[in-house]
Amino acid sequence: MSTEATSTESFTDSHVLDPAATTLSQDAISAEITDIHAAYRQSVVDGAKAETQPRIDFAPYRSSLLRHPTKNLHHADPETIELHSPAFGERDVHALEADLTIQHNGEPIGERIVVAGRVLDGDGRPVAGQLVEIWQANAAGRYIHKRDQHPAPIDPNFTGVGRAITGPNGEYSFTTIKPAPYPWKNHHNAWRPAHIHFSLFGTDFTQRMITQMYFPGDPLFSLDPIYQAITDADARARLVATYDHSITSHEWATGYNWDIVLTGSNRTWMEDEEGDH
Ligand SMILES: [Fe+2]
Repeated sequence: MSTEATSTESFTDSHVLDPAATTLSQDAISAEITDIHAAYRQSVVDGAKAETQPRIDFAPYRSSLLRHPTKNLHHADPETIELHSPAFGERDVHALEADLTIQHNGEPIGERIVVAGRVLDGDGRPVAGQLVEIWQANAAGRYIHKRDQHPAPIDPNFTGVGRAITGPNGEYSFTTIKPAPYPWKNHHNAWRPAHIHFSLFGTDFTQRMITQMYFPGDPLFSLDPIYQAITDADARARLVATYDHSITSHEWATGYNWDIVLTGSNRTWMEDEEGDH
């Protein structure tokens, strides 16, 4: 599924370690990012099409260099069952699974937030009945994951995973805790901006999209080779949520709005695919 909301890496990918890369300085990584972005902007001036997706081959993102695809994607016909069987039915997802603050006996530590928005197709039409899953670090920047060895506290009242089904207008809403930035091993003193991972399954197994939502004004944006692997400034901006006081609730939680725009309706995508073979 191609998306306007740009796909980026999953949790485990961003934690893959490359021992050689950790000796590189932030300045060296930042200089590479600056050069690649300047070349991209010049290419657009020269008539190239604006990019909407992260680059697969993006040198500053060192831990991705040896594992990204080096050949063009090869179209394979999925089995019919994959094209027409939704991953989950509405009855399988309980409304309370969208609240990440009530999964344990106590309240998680941190800033309670609501992240709400709509899933829309490329023509602005709502995508209803869409499974949306999220996962994230806690308020200290720590994941509940054995591969996360960041020496920040685990919160026994916060697992950091939730899911929801979009409503008739494509709407979703999660109540959670604002995640903190965390260090990773891409280079020396590398830190990820605070983010929430999103997965959308579409209507079919074959359409899954994974992306990340960021928070406005994060000082780590310019330093992060994952975020900056999206060379186009407008495409990067689409991954940043907006503070929305109408979502903020009195004496309870601050609110952020983030809409996810798919480039085309799922129906259109399936018809095109089936018409091709
Ligand atoms: Fe992450």
